[in-house]
Amino acid sequence: MDGLLLESDALKPLYRDLEALYESAKTCTKCRLASTRTNFVFGEGNPSAKLVVIGEAPGADEDAQGRPFVGRSGQLLDKILVAVGFRREDVFICNILKCRPPQNRNPLQDEIACCLPWLQRQLDLIEPRMLLLLGRVAANTLLGNTLSLGAMRGRILGWNRFECVVTYHPAALLRNPNWKRGCWEDVQLMRRHYDALEGTLNKP
Ligand code: URA
Repeated sequence: MDGLLLESDALKPLYRDLEALYESAKTCTKCRLASTRTNFVFGEGNPSAKLVVIGEAPGADEDAQGRPFVGRSGQLLDKILVAVGFRREDVFICNILKCRPPQNRNPLQDEIACCLPWLQRQLDLIEPRMLLLLGRVAANTLLGNTLSLGAMRGRILGWNRFECVVTYHPAALLRNPNWKRGCWEDVQLMRRHYDALEGTLNKP
């Protein structure tokens, strides 16, 4: 199996549901970001979503509000999702890091290592079929590679029990609107694959 391995069941504390996981996670002090954050940004959405959208880390707006993707990137993400027929509340939206790195610097490896168990447990509880990975940090981290975004886009990638689509981070699209066409192709691919998976679920 490629990429990050999920923890074995034996190591996993049992969380009843996402609410219980949040209660335990929100006071996390496992890394230095605990001392600079305003809010722990757990993520939000449908607790049994078949699609989980994963970004990099909270920015200033998200840190202030304690909610993922609520700033300019978030507004664009909402539009991208709507364009392929998902409302924000249909999916679950979260990040690799739950706390904002100062000045929005890139996540450090030890911060990612401290934070990933929270994401792993979120995925255990939500049990999605598909992941939409926004940007290189999310994709490289979960798929366990160092590939360029271009090398990961445009196809369905398997990771553990999930099927993943990689696309541009909305912040990158705000800087480079020329990449929007590529993102549109990626999310259409995701929607087609999602519908095909749903079709298999609904068959007797
Ligand atoms: N960028 C991210 O990666 N995540 C957010 O929640 C906001 C901006």
